[in-house]
Amino acid sequence: MTSTLAKTRAQNVRRAYKVFIFALKAGGTAKTSTTTALAVQLGLRGYRVLVIDLDPQCNATRVLGRRVFKPGQKSLTDVMADKAQLKDIIVQARYRTDPDGDSDDSFTEIPNVWIAPGDLDHPDIDDAERILNAEDGNVFWLKDGLDDLAEEFDVDVVLIDPPATYGRLTVTALVLLDEETEGAVIPPVLCTYKEADALVRLEKKLKEISERRMYQRRGIRPQMKYVMACAAPTASFGTEEHWETFNELKEEYGDILLPPVHWSGVATKIYRNECAVPILSPNSRPSQDYAKVATALGFPQR
Ligand SMILES: Nc1ncnc2c1ncn2[C@@H]1O[C@H](COP(=O)(O)OP(=O)(O)OP(=O)(O)O)[C@@H](O)[C@H]1O
Ligand SMILES: [Mg+2]
Repeated sequence: MTSTLAKTRAQNVRRAYKVFIFALKAGGTAKTSTTTALAVQLGLRGYRVLVIDLDPQCNATRVLGRRVFKPGQKSLTDVMADKAQLKDIIVQARYRTDPDGDSDDSFTEIPNVWIAPGDLDHPDIDDAERILNAEDGNVFWLKDGLDDLAEEFDVDVVLIDPPATYGRLTVTALVLLDEETEGAVIPPVLCTYKEADALVRLEKKLKEISERRMYQRRGIRPQMKYVMACAAPTASFGTEEHWETFNELKEEYGDILLPPVHWSGVATKIYRNECAVPILSPNSRPSQDYAKVATALGFPQR
C-alpha cells in the first residue's frame, strides 16, 4: 500500500471513539479510582463512555455497581474464551443507593456510562492470561470486539482498567492504540517513588511493543501521552516523600502531567459504597480535580 493510499484509508476508517488505558505495573496506584471517576465525570458531561474492566480483581465493576451477576449473565472472561461477544455483555453502569440488598432496586443507573464487567465468581477469572495465550495468539480479541460493538453502539470514549502487570491481558488493551485510533496510555501514580520509578519501565514496555514487527505492520504504537498524579499532597495531607515525588514528577513530566487529583478521604470510600467519586461526593476536591482532567483530555463541559 502506498503511503497516500494508507493515509486515505486511515482517514476513512478512523475510529469514532477514543481509547484511554490507565496502565502501570505497580499495585494500588489509583488506576481503578481514575477509570471510574473519569467515566462518571464524562458521562455527566454527556459523553458516551464504555469502561472495560480487565483486572481479575473486578474492582471497576464493583465501583460501577455491577458486582452482582444475574444467573447466566456473561462477563469479559466469557468473551476472552470466545463464549460471548463483547457487545452482548455490556451493561449500564450504576451506583448503590440502598446500603442493603443486591437487587436492582438497591442501585441507580448512570446515564451515558456502560461497562464490560468482570465476574469475580467466574470459575476461569484467574485463568484469563492462560485462556488468551491458548487462543493461538489472539491478542486482538478486544480490538475485534470493540469494532464489532461500534457498528451498533455509539461510543465517544473507551476507558480501560487493566491489572497491574504487562501480561497478555494488558497487551490486548495496548494494541488498541493504532494509527486509526486516537487515545493514550495514562499511568496514574500516587506520588511515591515506587510508582514514579515504574513510569520508566512503562515507557520501555511501550517502546518494546511499538518495535515488534507484527505490531508495526498494523500501525500499533501505544504512547504514554499523559501522566496523572493522584492523591497529590495538600496543605493537610502529605509526607516529605509525597512532596518530593510530586515535585520530581512535575520536573520530569511537567509537559504531560495532567492537573493533579489531590488526596481526600472520600476517594477511599468508593469500594465500600459501590459508587464512583463524582456521584459519591460531587463537590469534593477529587471530583473537582477529575473534572479538570476531563477538560484537559479534550472533553469539555457542553
Ligand atoms: N485522590 C485520592 N485520595 C486518597 N486516596 C486515594 C485517591 N485516589 C486513590 N486513592 C486510594 O489509593 C488506593 C489505590 O487506589 P485504586 O484501588 O484505584 O488503585 P489501583 O491502581 O486500581 O489498584 P490495583 O493495582 O489493586 O488495581 C485505594 O485505597 C484508593 O482509595
Ligand atoms: Mg484497580
